[in-house]
Amino acid sequence: MSESKNAPLLLRAARGEKVERTPVWMMRQAGRYMKIYRDLREKYPSFRDRSENPDLAIEISLQPWHAFQPDGVIMFSDILTPLPGIGIDFDIIESKGPQITDPIRTQAQVDAMTDFNPEESLPFIKTILNTLRDEVGDASTVLGFVGAPWTLAAYAIEGKSSKNYSVIKNMAFSEPAILHNFLGKVADAIAQYVCYQIDCGAQVIQMFDSWAGQLSPQDYDIFALPYQKRVVDKVKAIHPDFPLILYISGSAGVLERMAKSGVDIISVDWTMDMAEARQRLGKEMLVQGNIDPGVLFGSQEFIKNRIIDTARKAGNWGHIMNLGHGVLVGTPEDNVRFFFETCKNVQSFL
Ligand code: CP3
Repeated sequence: MSESKNAPLLLRAARGEKVERTPVWMMRQAGRYMKIYRDLREKYPSFRDRSENPDLAIEISLQPWHAFQPDGVIMFSDILTPLPGIGIDFDIIESKGPQITDPIRTQAQVDAMTDFNPEESLPFIKTILNTLRDEVGDASTVLGFVGAPWTLAAYAIEGKSSKNYSVIKNMAFSEPAILHNFLGKVADAIAQYVCYQIDCGAQVIQMFDSWAGQLSPQDYDIFALPYQKRVVDKVKAIHPDFPLILYISGSAGVLERMAKSGVDIISVDWTMDMAEARQRLGKEMLVQGNIDPGVLFGSQEFIKNRIIDTARKAGNWGHIMNLGHGVLVGTPEDNVRFFFETCKNVQSFL
């Protein structure tokens, strides 16, 4: 690939190239653990304003970039952001989390979903991604992201964050046709959304199927995997070489199945040993992760040792360093700074 020479580190690693050091970024690296974010949130209390007003979303996306220079800069947004574009309205309420205005429970509601036109319903995404590319140049890689159909369906159908997923599982296990119709429509919209983010300048895209680990493997094969694959197949038909990452929380029971989605990189959560994940996935598969976000509450000596251990287990090819899920609220910012600095120098400790 001729353009590879100037491409940023994380993008080259995500393409499977041999790189000079393992790149590092953090899921949820913009957000509430940062004081500068909390201060801005007081001024702009609406999550949808912060994520849909491009000036604010750009400023927030760049907060961790200015503080820590991660190798990846992820746009500030939410997996729910595209839902109003298919006729599903939402808000994110302080201390309650996501709230769907009119949760999807019937076939009539699925039929009433609107056609997705990302240029029209999500014009701010174009400004955000274009500007992030201009701001970071080749010094970092701009990441886009989407929610996978199962996880988006969990919010749209439950209506909020859920503990037991009883409403969506009731639909899955008693009226599966309605759920399959919904998942199919969401998958097609999300595939369009990924392509739109690519057109707007995203260089790597992570698909979050955060709650697919709540399914037993036999149900994962019916309700999660086919729709992840439908998104990946549609994107790859247009952009065959574009790097896609898949993340699932609690994925130990479905790790090999994740690879069947056709993504390029598996983001491993922290409940798995990285060496075992490598073994199970085979040496061709690229991996991301997988340090316990709780490690950042530990001493810096502990953090350093865990980074070295993870780097050794992952090896020096095909690895993007990251946490095993999003950075937690309350994490000391100095430990985040220490994490990035240590990851960038990890070679000297190996
Ligand atoms: O990584 C980044 O810096 C980008 C930020 C980002 C947000 N949401 C901003 C946000 C990302 C990548 C997401 C994705 C997302 N949203 C996921 C998948 C990632 C994962 O953690 O598994 C999920 C499941 C959601 C749905 C969602 N949105 C939840 C569960 C919450 C938290 C509710 C709460 O109050 O704890 C949100 C709200 C949200 N999205 C916040 C942020 C920074 C917190 C609210 C706020 O800052 O006011």
